Amino acid sequence: MDLKSLIRDIPDFPKPGILFRDITTLLRDADGLRYTIDSLTDKFLAAELKANYVVGMESRGFIIGAPLAYKLGAGFIPVRKPGKLPSSVHAVEYQLEYGMDRLEVHQDALQPGSPVLIVDDLLATGGTASATAKLVQQIGCQLIGFGFIIELRDLQGRKQLPDSVPVFSLVEY
Ligand code: PRP
Ligand code: ADE
Ligand code: MG
Repeated sequence: MDLKSLIRDIPDFPKPGILFRDITTLLRDADGLRYTIDSLTDKFLAAELKANYVVGMESRGFIIGAPLAYKLGAGFIPVRKPGKLPSSVHAVEYQLEYGMDRLEVHQDALQPGSPVLIVDDLLATGGTASATAKLVQQIGCQLIGFGFIIELRDLQGRKQLPDSVPVFSLVEY
C-alpha cells in the first residue's frame, strides 16, 4: 500500500519552515490504518522482538501504541506530557524540532529487566524517542526496539537512538 499517498503535507505548521507530515488523513482511512498497524506488528514479529510492554508517547504515539500492544500481546504504557499522570513519575526533558518539552512515566509502570518497545508516529530529530529511551533505560528496562510510521531522514534522528537497538519505520522522507 502507498502510505505516502495517505499522508498529507502541510507547509509552515506549526511554525514557518516546518513541513508538517499529517497522519490524520492516514488514520481516517480504514485500510490505511489497518495496514499501518499490521505492518509495524509484522516488522517486530519478523525480528522476533517479544516485548512485555509497548511504550507510546503522548499524543500521537498513543494512537499507534495501543493497537500495536494489543496485536503483540503486550501491555501499553503511556509516556505523557507534564502534570497528566496521577501517581509518582520519572521525568526527562527533551528538545523538539520546534521547541522544548518534558515527558513523564509512572514510576511503577515498568519493571527493571522487562523487554520494552518504544513506538511513535514520527521520528524527526530523535529528541522525543531518545528522551523516552533514557527514561526506559533509567528504570532498567531492556529496550528491544523502536517503531515509527514516518522517519524524516534529513534530521538524522536515528543517530540519537542507542546503536544496538533496531529501528523500524514504514515511510521515509
Ligand atoms: C511530534 C511527533 C513525535 C515528535 C517527533 O510530537 O508525534 O512525537 O514530534 O519529533 P522529534 O523526533 O524531533 O522529537 P509532538 O511533540 O509535536 O506532539 P504530539 O504527538 O502531541 O502531536
Ligand atoms: N514532529 C516533528 N516534526 C514533525 C513534522 N515535520 N511533521 C509532523 N510531526 C512532526
Ligand atoms: Mg508526538
